[in-house]
Amino acid sequence: MLKVAVVGFGKMGKLINELSVEQNIEVVSIIDPNKKIAYCEITEESVRNADVCIDFTQPDAVLDNIKKYCQLKKNAVIGTTGWFDNINKAEKLVQESGTGLIYSANFSIGVNAFLSIVENATKIFNKLQEYDIYGLELHHRHKKDSPSGTAKILAQIIKDNITIKDRINYERVSGQIESNVLHFASVRSGEIPGTHQIGFDSMADTIELTHRARNRIGFALGAIKSAKWIKDKKGLYNFREVFFNIILPQRH
Ligand SMILES: NC(=O)c1ccc[n+]([C@@H]2O[C@H](COP(=O)([O-])OP(=O)(O)OC[C@H]3O[C@@H](n4cnc5c(N)ncnc54)[C@H](OP(=O)(O)O)[C@@H]3O)[C@@H](O)[C@H]2O)c1
Repeated sequence: MLKVAVVGFGKMGKLINELSVEQNIEVVSIIDPNKKIAYCEITEESVRNADVCIDFTQPDAVLDNIKKYCQLKKNAVIGTTGWFDNINKAEKLVQESGTGLIYSANFSIGVNAFLSIVENATKIFNKLQEYDIYGLELHHRHKKDSPSGTAKILAQIIKDNITIKDRINYERVSGQIESNVLHFASVRSGEIPGTHQIGFDSMADTIELTHRARNRIGFALGAIKSAKWIKDKKGLYNFREVFFNIILPQRH
């Protein structure tokens, strides 16, 4: 049975712990600086018995955490978002240490299917110039980063596939928006687990593609699947590549 260290015992860490028995993994340690039941730090002792560390912490902690996983030769699943500007540093650390790491802004299988649906739809609307395109994401009021990591991936997919859009604006638009700008807005309120919508709009109609997470279970299951997969691997992987190249083909 896979042994995991849960790093960050917030909403996601707690859910992974709750799902562990039914998902056939064993949580051998819980690490969080401010929770009394947990280890406070990632140390040799706190991760000794773990095959893989699953990290759902916070953006400013994650690069230091990755350094520690690499020093301690532990493979890791990084669910934490808001740190992807440092991806090259993480890749170097992983390669030098000979460990394995898989990361994603969104571990939900449904969202990863959604990314491909949006990519295909965007290619169609690139040929239909009467349609403009927008993005919208909504999350609970406790979320620390904005826009969401998934919004950034979606915006990049659109920018890469719509010839006219060469800039992304995640902020409020003051005045009229230029036609080369993709507007991707964020809303924070209540307890929304995560909604992403892409709209294609013309004089005649609107086509909306929406992914609405019902709860956090999809993220947790994708992270657990990834932990099982990364156990004996080396190198840095993006969950989306793994989803399409490995998980999806295995279903047939
Ligand atoms: N990739 C995905 O599929 C996915 C899905 C959902 C969420 N996320 C991301 O995952 C992260 C966590 O989400 P969440 O909803 O679980 O947040 P959360 O409820 O705020 O939990 C984060 C926990 O990590 C703790 N923490 C902070 N720094 C730490 C460190 N260095 N070592 C260990 N623990 C540390 C926090 O402690 P304190 O409370 O004391 O600060 C908190 O208990 C966020 O970045 C979120 O955007 C990703």
